[in-house]
Amino acid sequence: MDSNLQKVFVARRIPQIGIDSLAQQFAVTVHSGQLPPTRSELLSGVGGCHGILSLLSDRIDGEVMDAAGAQLKVISNFAVGFNNIDVPEATRRGIAVGNTPDVLTDATADIAIALIMATARRLREAWQAVDNLAWKTWEPTGWRGLDLVGSTVGIVGMGRIGSKVAQRLYGGWNMRVLFTAHRAKAEDTFPFPARQVALDELLTNSDFISLHVPLSADTRHLIGAREFGLMKETAVVVNTARGEIINQAALVNALRNKQIFGAGLDVCDPEPLPEYDPLRQCENCLLLPHIGSATYSARDAMAVRAADNLLAGLTGNPLPYPVN
Ligand code: GLV
Repeated sequence: MDSNLQKVFVARRIPQIGIDSLAQQFAVTVHSGQLPPTRSELLSGVGGCHGILSLLSDRIDGEVMDAAGAQLKVISNFAVGFNNIDVPEATRRGIAVGNTPDVLTDATADIAIALIMATARRLREAWQAVDNLAWKTWEPTGWRGLDLVGSTVGIVGMGRIGSKVAQRLYGGWNMRVLFTAHRAKAEDTFPFPARQVALDELLTNSDFISLHVPLSADTRHLIGAREFGLMKETAVVVNTARGEIINQAALVNALRNKQIFGAGLDVCDPEPLPEYDPLRQCENCLLLPHIGSATYSARDAMAVRAADNLLAGLTGNPLPYPVN
């Protein structure tokens, strides 16, 4: 390996297309374990690096930037969300931060739809009955769930992914769409009818509530006991954003007490969910292991975008997908 090459630390094995593109120009070290690097592996791995390719499971803060050294120029997150990175600290140090937007929008919207349908139709309980040999006959009153047609979806955070979820639900099931957004959006912003409302109004009036806000100090525990109290008893809550947006203890109470119908989660807090977490006992909760972007093409495209951010940052160019 040419010792004059700039060094890149890649915090996990990502699709090869991204590694190949980096390896053409840089000295690349890939953390090869199936699990994320431990804190000490991360701190030693980044030592002397000019670029870091991080995952959402790696906390990249001032300590990591210090461990890398003053030559660190760019941190490229293999994710659209970047709550795992201390972006203000990176900015203060003149380190560019990038993410991988757009290419995972459809894949993640599809998982939100899958969770909405699976939770509405109680697929976890139905599958468990098959699995446990508890399925004895066709039951006229068994396994009844909720209809999508004629219902209302509330999109909390009508950005890229939220609007694709709404578009699918309007186009496929003619659902009424309510939404919240950071800024006021004009009526004709979307190619389907949608009404912007305050969060409380959305929670009170929606049958399906799908969360799509980024995680920040403002959105941490956005949905807690008070918010579950506003929801219909038949409400379904779906989270494909970040686990910490929901106060999970309050969610467990709401699910146990049948204050809501169910929850479909692709994310939880913490990840993975600990073995004895009470959420596991809630039959009306379907939990997936954070697979929103897990399609072959989305993950390949994320690898390309993450590599492109590093290539740009390390060759003195603006990042194509910048965060700061
Ligand atoms: C996944 O959660 C991502 O932020 O890309």
